[in-house]
Amino acid sequence: MKALVLSGGAGTRLRPITHTSAKQLVPVANKPVLFYGLEAIAAAGITEVGVVVGDTAAEIEEAVGDGSKFGLEITYIPQERPLGLAHAVLIARDWLGDDDFVMYLGDNFVVGGITALVEEFRDSRPDARILLTRVADPRSFGVAELDAAGQVVGLEEKPEHPKSDLALVGVYLFTPLIHEAVRAVRPSWRGELEITHAIQHLIDTRADVRCTVIEGYWKDTGNVVDMLEVNRTVLEGVEPRIDGEVDLESETIGRVVVEEGARVVRSRIVGPAVIGAGSVVEDSYVGPFTSVAENCRITHSELEFSIVLRDSSIVGVGRIESSLIGRHVEVTPAPSVPSAHRLVLGDHSKVQIRR
Ligand code: G1P
Repeated sequence: MKALVLSGGAGTRLRPITHTSAKQLVPVANKPVLFYGLEAIAAAGITEVGVVVGDTAAEIEEAVGDGSKFGLEITYIPQERPLGLAHAVLIARDWLGDDDFVMYLGDNFVVGGITALVEEFRDSRPDARILLTRVADPRSFGVAELDAAGQVVGLEEKPEHPKSDLALVGVYLFTPLIHEAVRAVRPSWRGELEITHAIQHLIDTRADVRCTVIEGYWKDTGNVVDMLEVNRTVLEGVEPRIDGEVDLESETIGRVVVEEGARVVRSRIVGPAVIGAGSVVEDSYVGPFTSVAENCRITHSELEFSIVLRDSSIVGVGRIESSLIGRHVEVTPAPSVPSAHRLVLGDHSKVQIRR
């Protein structure tokens, strides 16, 4: 069995973070979301992985390399334009050969991995198996309709009036029968060859398509609260580890990771929290469910339930909560007069100011 990992796409939903970086590299607990997928694939005993890349190919290749650090053999498959998930299967046809494969969308996060699913698929080998999960707003997903026996009878891509709250998760198990189906579909209203339509084609031609409903799932719906939630879930499972320096006037409580080269000075860190390599936390408080990435500076500030990406500084600003702060960001106090907020915000930024 092989794995096809999709890592193209524009990432419009996570702007402004994805203006400057691939959505698959957005970190969860200081690790790119794509790495969790690759680790899950390796854990399921799959070694041959095709990674479909688009505009952000260079960045993905730099982060993932030849796959050896995950125990994988990676082949990059360039997709000229983001023409859809079924299009990705089309262009990967030669590389996939006649193997069964798991298709994994690199911006999806599945708690608990995919080992059991892959094993079950190897044993039972239906024509395809899809994963579903209940979501609050199914309109930004593919949506499944099941019959009374729990069989999938219909799939719709981003329906305005969803027939259920069961969204398609971005992990699909296929036999080579899918190749016929992806050749049969025509572009959707958004101009893409939808894998949802290819699977519907399998259902219509009486192929054996089964589904599994899972819990513990996240994807980039552009909702920062969701991202903070997935960060929280992952942090709850981290093993505490202090590889950096924590001075005697500081205190760390609970699941706290201080990476090598990070320094904690006269500060209090209440886990679960991670402080990335090379970051300095000084005269500050870092509260639960916070990820501070590499080379950041947190000084005279309080930070809780937040994600700070690399090379950013937060200096002397009191308390920050429920926030997602990008790379190379500076947050500083304004001069006391005039009494005004001073902002330099990139395109698609969102700010909430306390009145
Ligand atoms: C794609 C699929 C959709 C699925 C989603 C899961 O959406 O088309 O059916 O629910 O992935 O991540 P897209 O990310 O292309 O909007």
